[in-house]
Amino acid sequence: MIYELSKDNLKLSVQEVLSLANTDKYELYENILICKKVDYKRLACTNNVYEQIFIDTKIPNINWEKYYEENFCARSNKASKEKELAGIIWKSLKNPKVKLKDSKTEFHFFFIKDKIICGKKVFERTEPFHIRRPDLRPGFFPVSLKPRLARTLINLTGIKKGLIWDPFCGTGGILLEAAMMDLKVIGTDIDPIMIRAAKENFKHYNLKATFEIADARTEKIKCKAVVCDPPYGRRASTKKVIIETLYNDFLENAYNFVDKVVIMMPNTVKIKTKYKIKFSTEEFVHGTLTRRILILEK
Ligand SMILES: C[S@@+](CC[C@H](N)C(=O)[O-])C[C@H]1O[C@@H](n2cnc3c(N)ncnc32)[C@H](O)[C@@H]1O
Repeated sequence: MIYELSKDNLKLSVQEVLSLANTDKYELYENILICKKVDYKRLACTNNVYEQIFIDTKIPNINWEKYYEENFCARSNKASKEKELAGIIWKSLKNPKVKLKDSKTEFHFFFIKDKIICGKKVFERTEPFHIRRPDLRPGFFPVSLKPRLARTLINLTGIKKGLIWDPFCGTGGILLEAAMMDLKVIGTDIDPIMIRAAKENFKHYNLKATFEIADARTEKIKCKAVVCDPPYGRRASTKKVIIETLYNDFLENAYNFVDKVVIMMPNTVKIKTKYKIKFSTEEFVHGTLTRRILILEK
């Protein structure tokens, strides 16, 4: 498949697909990723997905009929070539019909360096993440992650079924996205006010979850993966625990019963853990905060 990735954080966009595909095999041409098929409707950092038709240095002989349905248009990152490309396809079809808007078959040609990558569009991400903004929820605290990032973190686990645990769940922002993807979720937090807010939010979206008050440094929940953004030592309180100690104690506890942890933290926090770092990337937020996203595995 061909994945046209968001360029906001390309490394993160690539890893989201690789995690869901459970593979390290891929080719990347600028923001065009070639990789095996995943449940692409879940993706948060991919804008469009195409069924691969060819990758070549020139346009080979293609049986366009095999891909054609009802009508078509040809699109390209080189808009000036679209007419010529449509002409090539037109000539090879029995009953061609061109439809420029909302066409049933969209052939897309990416010209990248010496390569031409061609695919038929199968998915366009139109997910309205903004309508689920944290400030529109009844249980709102300014610590909550934006839904698109929350969904990306869930996808980095690669988990398709089973239980996700957020041990620093706050208002439940990460778990809301997980529950919307039909994953089972459990959230714990040391702060009862946060647990109340998380419950309110799940009720608002009519989604199911289990929430409990618990300290992440001692709580044991058997799950497929942990996904979390522990306190940054700023707005979200660490309850007076030194931030590094909180992270390290939590990871030491989790190591006994969780195989995979996706965690987001300020890049100033230096963790010590037995987990191996499978993936790491950074996101600039503002002058004094850059976040690091890690996938930790046993
Ligand atoms: C950055 S916030 C998480 C925000 C959350 N992702 C959301 O969507 O609202 C960190 C949370 O960790 C909680 N916390 C702090 N120390 C904790 C501990 N030892 N165990 C569990 N939760 C803790 C705080 O109460 C806070 O709600």
